[in-house]
Amino acid sequence: MLSGKKIEMSHHSFYALRDMIYERSGIFFPDQKKYLLENRLLRRIEDEGFDDFEKYVDFLRHDPLRDKEFSTLFDIVTTNETSFFRDINQLQAFESVVLPQIVKEAEEKGYKKLRIWSAPCSTGEEPYTLAMLLLNKFPKIQDSGWDIEIHGSDISECVLNSARRGEYTDYSIRNVPPPYLDRYYIKNGNGKYNVRPEVRGMVRLSNVNLFDNMRVKMFRGMNIVFCRNMLIYFDEAAKKRVIANIYDSLAPGGYLFIGHAESLFNISRAFKLVNINNILIYQK
Ligand SMILES: C[S@@+](CC[C@H](N)C(=O)[O-])C[C@H]1O[C@@H](n2cnc3c(N)ncnc32)[C@H](O)[C@@H]1O
Repeated sequence: MLSGKKIEMSHHSFYALRDMIYERSGIFFPDQKKYLLENRLLRRIEDEGFDDFEKYVDFLRHDPLRDKEFSTLFDIVTTNETSFFRDINQLQAFESVVLPQIVKEAEEKGYKKLRIWSAPCSTGEEPYTLAMLLLNKFPKIQDSGWDIEIHGSDISECVLNSARRGEYTDYSIRNVPPPYLDRYYIKNGNGKYNVRPEVRGMVRLSNVNLFDNMRVKMFRGMNIVFCRNMLIYFDEAAKKRVIANIYDSLAPGGYLFIGHAESLFNISRAFKLVNINNILIYQK
């Protein structure tokens, strides 16, 4: 609020902002979410001393520093809700069927490479969970000549920094089964939980905008991709683009997990749908 006057987002600014966000990220704000975008951005406008949303739109369009501002904008407009061991049924299918099958096939081929990608990973709970499940299922895998990569990526640098710290609250760890809590976390002096270094060391974190075709091309030969709870923020065209990018990143026979409430109906016909204990998983 400047000089006591409330800054309001005009429809014109709303459409300009939502188009810019959409063109760069695929995140789509429908008309009924105007208030949400306005609330999320108001603080930024005030903190940075913009007189109004129009000035902010001008800055994002023309300023040489606009790429940096877009990075901050993505921190603000993304919804980053996540937790360890989220949707346990999917994780059980991953641990008990998908992972052993991929490992067995790779061993048979004498090609001991495993590539897992949590895209998007938010504050890190998902890729760290996958690393713990892998260690739990195959405790010796790292000493058996395997080349293992677990990637976690997100568009928001802020959540990635939090993932790099690897420190979590009681709330984040609420679904962690007790044996995993004992084995893979250390309670620190602040009453928070640190993921143990051996787990953190397995996960490579990087900033990847999944809407950026060139950037996603850097990820190839993935055996398993988790792309959960992001597509809900995209419209159909953006979903198609991101899923096509992820399809290309998968190795033949590779698996894709999407959120349990999400579907690729009308989005892609390229995958085979596999049912494992009533959990639907997409296979290339
Ligand atoms: C709700 S979180 C989901 C995290 C985790 N996969 C889970 O299911 O718990 C959604 C994440 O998608 C990220 N995101 C949104 N648009 C993105 C894009 N275009 N590229 C990469 N990440 C994106 C957000 O920053 C946010 O952290």
